[in-house]
Amino acid sequence: MARITRSVDFSLKGYLLQAYLIGRNASGTDSPIKGELIKFNKGLGSHGNRSKSGMVAAIMADSAKLTLDGNEYELPIVVGSENEKAIDIGKLRAESGYVTIDGGYKNTGACYSSITYLDGEQGILRYRGYAIEDLAEKAEFLEVAYLIIYGTLPTPTEYDTFKKDIRRHSIIHEDMRHFFDGFPSSGHPMSILSSMVCSLSAYYPDSLDADPTDDLQITRLLSKIRTIVAFGYKKSIGHPAMYPRNDLSYCGNFMHMMFANPAEPYEPDPEIVKAINTLLILHADHEQNCSTSTVRLVGSSNANLYAAVSAGILALWGPLHGGANQAVIEMLQEIQDSGGDYKGFMEKVKDKSSGVRLMGFGHRVYKNYDPRAKVLKAMADKLLPHLKVEDPLLDIAKNLEAIALEDPYFVQRNLYPNVDFYSGIVYRALGIPVNMFTVMFALGRLPGWIGQWREMMQDPGRKIGRPRQIYTGENARAFVSLADR
Ligand SMILES: CC(C)(COP(=O)(O)OP(=O)(O)OC[C@H]1O[C@@H](n2cnc3c(N)ncnc32)[C@H](O)[C@@H]1OP(=O)(O)O)[C@@H](O)C(=O)NCCC(=O)NCCS
Repeated sequence: MARITRSVDFSLKGYLLQAYLIGRNASGTDSPIKGELIKFNKGLGSHGNRSKSGMVAAIMADSAKLTLDGNEYELPIVVGSENEKAIDIGKLRAESGYVTIDGGYKNTGACYSSITYLDGEQGILRYRGYAIEDLAEKAEFLEVAYLIIYGTLPTPTEYDTFKKDIRRHSIIHEDMRHFFDGFPSSGHPMSILSSMVCSLSAYYPDSLDADPTDDLQITRLLSKIRTIVAFGYKKSIGHPAMYPRNDLSYCGNFMHMMFANPAEPYEPDPEIVKAINTLLILHADHEQNCSTSTVRLVGSSNANLYAAVSAGILALWGPLHGGANQAVIEMLQEIQDSGGDYKGFMEKVKDKSSGVRLMGFGHRVYKNYDPRAKVLKAMADKLLPHLKVEDPLLDIAKNLEAIALEDPYFVQRNLYPNVDFYSGIVYRALGIPVNMFTVMFALGRLPGWIGQWREMMQDPGRKIGRPRQIYTGENARAFVSLADR
């Protein structure tokens, strides 16, 4: 067994904050924003983020002292624009021979980013400084996508150009359409989505350059992903694929490809389009979660954008991440099928030996009500009556939530509903099949993956992601030949 025997002493000195703020103006050049460029300490250059993809704050503070084996090491302290503090251990191993260990990266910042700010204790989520509640209510998904990827809300001209580019790329290569025939119709849509997104790099060899300034790769992906998702759905139900209608909005066009059929006219319900728009915005980014970190890690090897996003889709698939919305509905359905005994179910959840978790509850970073879940709960309350949907699962969900918000088990562990708790109920009401819930999450998360990839690729200090480990296996031993074993 590996054992830590040295005592470690940290002491933090008072902070001395200096900020370096840059932004990207309309002409694409860097310029000071917020009216001031506060002196940046050049000595901390390697600790500062100089990404050109939006507003950046790299801030130096003082240092921490670490005593190891009688030697003292000075570790720089960096502070983010929301006063988040970190100790930079980048040179620790080179200087002391020690690495740090942090399973599940619970305490490890892997990058500087100016895209999303999340305060799990307070239940705050902002994209580029804008509150998620405001964006969900007032913005269009593509505006938010632009904001996340390029750092600012688009001007009317920028937005028109962006939308025009996205419309232009809505059709997928006809050969790719035939891929769908090769998948079994019962194949999980996440595996199909990941494969199809990755195969875009075979059709667009210019994407192999992994050039973050090549906007064409980005607009192609944002546009085609809807078509890929909808074609996959049509194939799974044995319907002919519906080609895109570029006169419709981004979300309207998606609804058309999903739910229209060639035999009847179809106009998407504006309330449904609005709901999809909001759902996608709520999912658009969530800083360094499992799938986004996957996109960054894969991208850090200079693999192309489509490959990196394809890997992110697979990471999202797991039930502890994006797959939880499917798991929530399955859980609610199971409770209903067994007579609706939600109280009994909650007892099982609290009994650790049962291995049962309340899906859609708890979060690695939110220790408060997930702000996205609040928006979704209100949406479910409005949308279901509009669609004349009476869903007993919504009542079960609300009952489970009411118990959990009072029960010491959940209160003491800060377990609150997360984004997946109500999103599944909304998707169900919209007619999205359960096994496509995570696909909808992926559709929404795409701008976040792209923005984070772009930010990383534009960081001049970028390094390939390569964590360390503490080896706990056998020490060197002699090989034993097969006959002697
Ligand atoms: C999201 C999740 C993986 C976060 O995990 P985490 O930060 O590693 O938290 P832990 O698994 O260490 O949980 C902390 C404690 O709360 C309990 N807990 C966490 N989520 C729980 C849940 N959904 N139901 C019951 N207990 C839960 C754990 O058993 C643990 O209890 P303990 O301290 O007595 O051992 C976890 O909350 C979970 O599995 N939730 C359900 C799946 C889900 O909704 N995922 C979507 C996330 S957006």
